Amino acid sequence: MLLVDDLRVAYGKILAVEEVSLEVDERELVAVIGANGAGKTSLLSALMGLVEPRGGTISFRERDITRFPSWWRVRLGLALVPEGGRIFPDLSVEKNLLLGAFVVRSRRGLVENLELVFSLFPVLKERLNQRAGTLSGGERQMLAIGRSLMASPKLLLVDEVSMGLMPKLIPEILGTFRKLRGERGMSVLLAEQNAREALQVVDRGYVLKNGRVVLAGTAVELRENDEVKTAYLGL
Ligand SMILES: Nc1ncnc2c1ncn2[C@@H]1O[C@H](COP(=O)(O)OP(=O)(O)O)[C@@H](O)[C@H]1O
Ligand SMILES: [Mg+2]
Repeated sequence: MLLVDDLRVAYGKILAVEEVSLEVDERELVAVIGANGAGKTSLLSALMGLVEPRGGTISFRERDITRFPSWWRVRLGLALVPEGGRIFPDLSVEKNLLLGAFVVRSRRGLVENLELVFSLFPVLKERLNQRAGTLSGGERQMLAIGRSLMASPKLLLVDEVSMGLMPKLIPEILGTFRKLRGERGMSVLLAEQNAREALQVVDRGYVLKNGRVVLAGTAVELRENDEVKTAYLGL
């Protein structure tokens, strides 16, 4: 579904992503594990068309999208849940959700997507008219995920959703991605520092270090890998 080949991202002389190749299949949950500064956000930004890659190709559902603008990628079925649960704080919860639906043309599609979001995160329905800036950290993340779902994505790119969440909420939020795969056939690419939690929910993963993929395998293989254990799982 997603094929990334030899991708490179740089900011001036700073190389953030170097020669990264990876893939995500239909209905697959994949993690990109990496410490702070490893290049996760740069990678997702390039996939979403928010930064222009220095080299390499990105293909999505058999189309080369490397030079496509972001809105076009959204229309093709990519959506991003940005780092830090970024939402529009001065707008209501409802307006935030509707902004995510700019590619949805039919009223019916809109209603269906809203129903999906409310079924995953009922609290958003209660807070519909509230200013998004007044939400708790966990609710903001829910809104950020909800907003991305409003675009009916096929592949969801999720940047560090566990960061700043109460530990108890993390499995619950990550669990929603399994639900989305099960109920909607979505794929998810999860960028996470929190290897422990991420490797509980994904099928496969890549370990990113200084902008490069240094390890790849199934979630089970990565959980049992000695390097992963010491560097990312604190074992
Ligand atoms: N806008 C930017 N300008 C310059 N350097 C950046 C910028 N964004 C990220 N970087 C650098 O690129 C590298 C990768 O950062 P980032 O992609 O944010 O990693 P991560 O999301 O894994 O923490 C880091 O060295 C970071 O300092
Ligand atoms: Mg980041």
